[in-house]
Amino acid sequence: MVLDIKIRKEVEADYSQREIILDDCFGKDRNNRTVYIYRKIPSIKELSLISYLKKEPKVVIGTIRFYRVLIEGFHCLLLGPLAVDKLYQGKGFGKKLIQKGLDLAKENGEKICFVSGEYDYYCHYGFKKLSSINLNIIVPGPISFKDLLIYEFNNDAKNYLKNNSQLLPSN
Ligand SMILES: CC(C)(COP(=O)(O)OP(=O)(O)OC[C@H]1O[C@@H](n2cnc3c(N)ncnc32)[C@H](O)[C@@H]1OP(=O)(O)O)[C@@H](O)C(=O)NCCC(=O)NCCS
Repeated sequence: MVLDIKIRKEVEADYSQREIILDDCFGKDRNNRTVYIYRKIPSIKELSLISYLKKEPKVVIGTIRFYRVLIEGFHCLLLGPLAVDKLYQGKGFGKKLIQKGLDLAKENGEKICFVSGEYDYYCHYGFKKLSSINLNIIVPGPISFKDLLIYEFNNDAKNYLKNNSQLLPSN
């Protein structure tokens, strides 16, 4: 059966359902992970999205957020967290969230997005290993999934980023 998957902006009423999904997917101690140093500020509102089924718009099934990060003062995005209710994983909710998030980010004029995630998953959306474009970016701490991946909205990251620069939180 084809599910009628919809995407909308996150609202405050989604908070508790979203937390349950994140706890379930990443554990209650997830805030100790390095990526959370970038998540001390509010996420970018227009890129904070929820996936749901058309017939139940208030039931959160998936969530994606993006945060502002800086590389030598250049504004980039950091994707995450991205998570889908375990009961609904593998049905296309994650795919729609990433595609919509990246489309909106492009419309907003973003140039570069990073993610700390599995290459085998994110490569389907155009994320690359930094090594594939001969770029090294320093993250101040260990990251899950080993690699920081990059998405170039215009294939021109090297015009903006200097090798061995640090990925810094924006605050
Ligand atoms: C990873 C996650 C967000 C994917 O969302 P999802 O709704 O389950 O995935 P989708 O149904 O949209 O899958 C999209 C595609 O990715 C593939 N895929 C899913 N998980 C994958 C993985 N871990 N590695 C490689 N491919 C994967 C699917 O087979 C599908 O391929 P297709 O388009 O060829 O059919 C979800 O499984 C999840 O919440 N996992 C736990 C939390 C997590 O790992 N988040 C991401 C870490 S940054």
